[in-house]
Amino acid sequence: MVVNGSAAAADGTAGPVVRVPVSLRVNGTERRIEVDTRTSLLDALRDALALTGTKKGCDQGQCGACTVHLDGKRVLSCLTLAASADGREVRTIEGLARDGVPHPMQEAFARHDALQCGYCTPGQIMSAVALIEEGRAGSDDDVREFMSGNLCRCGAYPHIVAAIRDVATGGRRA
Ligand code: FES
Ligand code: FES
Repeated sequence: MVVNGSAAAADGTAGPVVRVPVSLRVNGTERRIEVDTRTSLLDALRDALALTGTKKGCDQGQCGACTVHLDGKRVLSCLTLAASADGREVRTIEGLARDGVPHPMQEAFARHDALQCGYCTPGQIMSAVALIEEGRAGSDDDVREFMSGNLCRCGAYPHIVAAIRDVATGGRRA
């Protein structure tokens, strides 16, 4: 643990900057970084590891744009401290394609025109993949319910539901 300098704390008081080494297994590769203990997993992925596929929307846990998988479970990376992910498995949108072949969910999103601006799409797809792994994509209503934490300002929802149901009913790889 390294303490160096100071920074304004959330309550306005100055506090020491504490940096810690963090080891993550990201998309199958071991990555070692050093982060401020207050760094979110989202910022660590984007800024320290240059994995900018994961998007920062609200940065407050309300939009789902930052969804990644941590030890196989979907989490909001903006609400997850990078230090708390030490030693754990992280999967991001960059880790879905294999050997240059898009994941079936990525293909389904493209096939169903389930994106417009595309900004929310990585988080939607990561949630959608988890949803199927959780066994919660049994009906359109289930998909809508369990995807409700992922917001899309463009309103592509009917196409998103169709893409997810396509993968869920086609028995494709999730
Ligand atoms: S950026 Fe994390 S929920 Fe919006
Ligand atoms: S596709 Fe634009 S916000 Fe979702």
